[in-house]
Formats: sequence, C-alpha cells, structure tokens
Amino acid sequence: MKYICITGATRGIGAFLTKVFLDEGYTVFAGSIEESEQLLKYKQLYENQLHIVHMDIGSDRSVKEATAYIYSQTKYLDVLINNAGILGDIESTIKTDLDFDEMLTVYNVNSVGPLRVTHALLALLQAGNEKILLNISSEAGSIGNSFRTSWYAYCMSKAALNMQSAMLRDHLQEDDIKVIIMHPGWVQTFMRGKVDSDATYTPKEAAQMIYNTMRRQAAEPFSRNNFIDSEGRQLPW
Ligand SMILES: NC(=O)c1ccc[n+]([C@@H]2O[C@H](COP(=O)([O-])OP(=O)(O)OC[C@H]3O[C@@H](n4cnc5c(N)ncnc54)[C@H](OP(=O)(O)O)[C@@H]3O)[C@@H](O)[C@H]2O)c1
Repeated sequence: MKYICITGATRGIGAFLTKVFLDEGYTVFAGSIEESEQLLKYKQLYENQLHIVHMDIGSDRSVKEATAYIYSQTKYLDVLINNAGILGDIESTIKTDLDFDEMLTVYNVNSVGPLRVTHALLALLQAGNEKILLNISSEAGSIGNSFRTSWYAYCMSKAALNMQSAMLRDHLQEDDIKVIIMHPGWVQTFMRGKVDSDATYTPKEAAQMIYNTMRRQAAEPFSRNNFIDSEGRQLPW
C-alpha cells in the first residue's frame, strides 16, 4: 500500500493532485477546510482509498486533530504534499496602505502552515518507503527573479517557505527524505477569488505535470538545486 497526504485539496491543484494519486493507486489523506464537491465525487469512485480529513493548516489544533486521525489509519506515509496556500492582497504597495494583520495571516498559512504539517507528520514520513516531501511554492518566492512591487505577503511568505524547504532538505537528508520545492506554473485556479482563465495550465494539466516532475526529481541524487518548476527547470532562490 502507498500512502500520501495532500493539503489544500478542496479545489484547484490540490483536488486534481488527489485524483492523480488515487489513479496511481495511493491511499490519499486529502486535507480540506470546506466540503468539496470534487472530493465527494472522488470519494464515490474510490471509497476505500480516499480519506477526506478536515485540516486547517493555519491552526495548531486543527493540524493536531487531523494528523491524529492520519496516525490512527496508517503506520507510514510515502509522500507529503504541502499544497495549501492563499494569495492575500496583491494590490497595495509601499506607497499605499498595507494591511499587516492580513500579511501575518498569509504568513501563517503559506510559511508556518507547511512546517506545522511536516512537523506533525514527520515520523510517518520517516517510516515511509518513498520518503518524498513536496512543498508547492511559487516563482513569486524567488528573490533572484523578483520583479513585483506589490504582492508583499505572498512573495515574502513563499520566500520563507523556500528557506524552510532548504533547511528541511539538508536536515532530512540523513533520513533519506527527498525534499522538492516546486513552482506549479501559472494555473487556472481560484487563488484570485475567481477562476483565473488567463493562466497557462488547467489544474488537471498542472497536477499531472507536478506528478511527473516529482517522480523524475525524486529519482535524482541529492542536490541543493531543488527549487524547480513543474517542467523540472531549476529556479533561482
Ligand atoms: N495558481 C497558480 O497560478 C499558482 C502559481 C504559483 C503557486 N501556486 C500555489 O499552488 C498552491 C495551490 O493553489 P491553487 O492555485 O490550487 O489555488 P486555490 O484554487 O485557491 O487552492 C488553494 C487550496 O488551499 C486551500 N487552503 C487555503 N487556506 C487553507 C488553510 N488555512 N488550510 C488548509 N487549506 C487551505 C484552499 O481551500 P478552500 O478552497 O477551502 O479555501 C484550496 O483548496 C498554493 O500553494 C499556491 O500558492 C499557484
């Protein structure tokens, strides 16, 4: 049996990643904060393989309860995908009003949230066979490629996620856990509050690309150049 946990699986990339891994035969713990029609549809198709788990990655308590459930169902996890994320305000600049409380919310979800989940599930990942930790980041977190003058919360929170992933990459090397940090491409999802139809990829296409690239990257030897896009191209930190 292969086991995976995916956060933020209600919709968008996370929902389609859930489907890809179900099709690949994994038992999926799909973290979700709202009822999701898409996940309920998958549940009808894959009743025994899919566990929909209420998990708000911004909350210590919620992560504790959700992961306690996962520990009650399996002795190991092969893959953990920290996918959940929020965009926050993308309009304000240093020359307008900035909402610092909202920035902290974004940081709590995008930066601290994945660490909360990884920390809680580490023992299961250490016991897994595939030992893959995939953090979904963004090109917006690349300091080397920085070009924006707004999007403070999102860009800073993803840069922090990249740093976290680099630290985990080095520390978890001794456990043979492969840490991958991936920009999923520009995807037609709900991040902006409505479907972003101008974006390059459908979430279904993006999920398949993420899966394929994750597989290829996980087969590579350890490398410090593990910030990549969904086509496997390296991104500058
Ligand atoms: N779309 C893009 O072009 C793009 C580009 C670069 C990176 N990304 C990254 O890709 C990942 C997936 O985003 P997406 O594009 O699929 O956006 P999305 O459609 O907005 O999906 C985000 C998912 O995260 C969940 N979520 C939000 N806050 C959460 C929390 N506190 N706890 C648990 N789940 C939470 C959402 O749940 P609800 O629906 O219930 O709120 C939703 O299922 C994010 O990390 C994002 O930063 C996306």
